[in-house]
Amino acid sequence: MLDEDHKRWLRKSLGPGIRFGEPMAKHTSFRIGGPADALAEPADEMQLKELVQWARLQKIPYLVLGGGTNLLVRDGGIRGLVIRLGRLPADVKWTQDAQQVRITAGVGLPTKRLCSLALRHAWRGMNFALGIPGTLGGAIMMNAGTGQGCMADVLNALIILNASGHKVRLKMEQIRGSYRKMQFPQKIQMEDDTGPAILLQAELNLTPGDRVRIHRQAQQMMQGRARRQPSWQPNAGCFFKNPAAGLPAGRLIDEVGLKGLKMGNAQVSPRHANFIVNCGGATAADVLALAELMENKVWERFGVQLKSEVRIVGQETNA
Ligand code: EPU
Repeated sequence: MLDEDHKRWLRKSLGPGIRFGEPMAKHTSFRIGGPADALAEPADEMQLKELVQWARLQKIPYLVLGGGTNLLVRDGGIRGLVIRLGRLPADVKWTQDAQQVRITAGVGLPTKRLCSLALRHAWRGMNFALGIPGTLGGAIMMNAGTGQGCMADVLNALIILNASGHKVRLKMEQIRGSYRKMQFPQKIQMEDDTGPAILLQAELNLTPGDRVRIHRQAQQMMQGRARRQPSWQPNAGCFFKNPAAGLPAGRLIDEVGLKGLKMGNAQVSPRHANFIVNCGGATAADVLALAELMENKVWERFGVQLKSEVRIVGQETNA
């Protein structure tokens, strides 16, 4: 897919920001995944724009990587380009009055930094995301959230590079956030055969709040998470979405008795049944076999079809 001319162009245009045959296991929180033909890390918006235009012209498919925290890359890796936004400047600016805090942030900003900033200034609205790993861009694309809220609740607007390479500002009124999904207006071309539109910046609205209450709530949430979730082992967060009605996925998987079950080096976490953890050296095939078993057992017993929350990409083999 990538020939020598392509590689020369990539080296020339990205310098140290390009790596070939890069194992994706190094870039995912699961620590799993075969090699990407090329991993590109543009240093600024200009480089990113040029790269996307070039990839489109050359018809080289690309995938955009945020923090790699909600992703399972199959063992054969990824043909084409992976564009990682982690080297883009993740600057944050804000204005504040008595009613509102208006924030503008680059999407490479780690959600953790945004949450810390909100805590430091006692801004209300961001606590729901405490402990959600990854970048702001990734969190927006999947409308990441918890029982306490989701990205759509705080988003005011997005600046994107659409699939035709134009910068567009989308107001939140044009976007619809549903459970773990952001839906964009059809007239905005968000994806085509080569790759997706790319988020560049987000505008968020928070409100000034009560410092003591916000800090107390944050502490309770972090303690709850630490108690319930296996954060010390590589994982990709909850593996399945919670069904729209009825019991949550973790409870269903627990009820069918799969906690602790291992396939290869992947395990249903003994701590929380909706987490698949990498016990060390797990392959994507291990994870997928385990996930299939979880789906089947839950289907047989409850008639509920579990749907993966984790995005699954790449090829099974390196062919
Ligand atoms: N439960 C069990 N057994 C288990 C796990 C959970 O019985 O092994 C029960 C719990 O006792 C509780 C219920 O299931 O009654 C729900 O569990 P929990 O409170 O842990 O929440 P969850 O629905 O499993 C959701 C999000 C998490 C988020 C937490 C906390 C989804 C799929 N998951 O989990 O998000 O951290 O709430 O707000 O919506 C993620 O998206 O990656 C993620 C981990």
